[in-house]
Amino acid sequence: MSISSIPLTENQQPQTVFEPLIIVFCCNWCSYAGADLAGTSRLQYPSNIRIIRVMCSGMVHPNLVIEALTKGADGVLMLGCHIGDCHYLEGNLKAQSRVDAIQLLLDDMGVERDRFRLEWVSASEGPRFAQVIKDMVEQVRKLGPSAFRQW
Ligand code: FES
Repeated sequence: MSISSIPLTENQQPQTVFEPLIIVFCCNWCSYAGADLAGTSRLQYPSNIRIIRVMCSGMVHPNLVIEALTKGADGVLMLGCHIGDCHYLEGNLKAQSRVDAIQLLLDDMGVERDRFRLEWVSASEGPRFAQVIKDMVEQVRKLGPSAFRQW
């Protein structure tokens, strides 16, 4: 008899693992290419993410992050080029400067700050992309489902 075929006893419940939904805003020039490299390199990472491709991380207004978190996402990840590499020179600096505002908005709404994260991933960092996704999924999994989740 294999372990999976051992019947549960009366008091045991089947264990279900919470699978968070994470929205990932990827800048076109670095992070999206990094995601693409992770895919073409056949690197394994959780399938909990939905990527939204934007031209630059600096284009992601805090309202977009809040909207995602209040309409079903359990977490939001913003990925951009490393500092000094932004295709639009200062877009990632703009993204970085918005983190505090986003965290304050999350506080106001009673949403855990750990549901949002900003990271830099270059076009050549497929393994880093995969690792950042794994870390974020684990981080949000520990928090449990968003209070705004409708299903
Ligand atoms: Fe990647 Fe601006 S183009 S962060």
